Amino acid sequence: MSRHSETIRRITAPEIRARKGGDPVVCLTAYTAPMAQILDQHCDVLLVGDSLGMVVHGLPNTVGVTLEMMILHGQAVMRGSERALVVVDMPFGSYEAGPEQAFAAATRILKETGAQAVKIEAGATAAPVVAFLTQRGVPVMSHVGLLPQNVNVDGGFKAKGRSPEERARIIADAKASDEAGAFAIVVEGVDESLGTEITAAVKAPTIGIGASATCDGQILVVDDLLGLFDWTPKFVRRYADLKSIISEAVQSYAEDVRARRFPAAAETYALGAKARQARVAGDDKRG
Ligand code: KIV
Repeated sequence: MSRHSETIRRITAPEIRARKGGDPVVCLTAYTAPMAQILDQHCDVLLVGDSLGMVVHGLPNTVGVTLEMMILHGQAVMRGSERALVVVDMPFGSYEAGPEQAFAAATRILKETGAQAVKIEAGATAAPVVAFLTQRGVPVMSHVGLLPQNVNVDGGFKAKGRSPEERARIIADAKASDEAGAFAIVVEGVDESLGTEITAAVKAPTIGIGASATCDGQILVVDDLLGLFDWTPKFVRRYADLKSIISEAVQSYAEDVRARRFPAAAETYALGAKARQARVAGDDKRG
């Protein structure tokens, strides 16, 4: 085998970029190795989203997420997957100061996790960062529309593009990061007409989350799709109700423990004949 070949080759950022207008790009968030292992065979892209702050760590929003948290979860997702392109979110505060700061954080992510790309919430001002990174070997997925890291400026998580000015700004953001070299653009929380307009205006595939079926691909937070939360946004389709399934399983376990039905004989170690003889011999000596 040559030094440059791999038995199983991961999907690459250029391959995702080439999917513009073709087969829809299937993306989900992933935060842990076992979940990544389940999702890997079904998804083109696994995003280690900074939504992990809320989904895994119980934070109120993504602002408190650190680079170290992203790297730790990025490593776990890389260990659990072998086929999907793994993209790691750059957390709030790790890229906004400028291209050099962004490059230092992005190289840590790529080197320490092995992931092949990063994502940044890119308004027009972030386009120079997208260009700086892509020109230096860091593939960038950008993110426009509703930007969760802006929660304190926006005062909440609200759909975007309600005024003509806001629509024009979001289209400009998408075009700026497209021209700067983003290999894909997440479009979040906009109406169908805006999702369609952005998709037509950029060369990179758009990955919608609450941005309509006209986008080139779709992404959801995996815990939303699996029904691990009581509340889900309008744009989520729940494919399972894992919260109820887990709760029922744990209730049965608790009842069995309390009634001494668990563990049963089948779940209890039984020593073999040899070990029993050795123990008896030991007991005789001691006695
Ligand atoms: O952090 C995240 O999970 C995201 C996706 C929802 C696009 O940015």
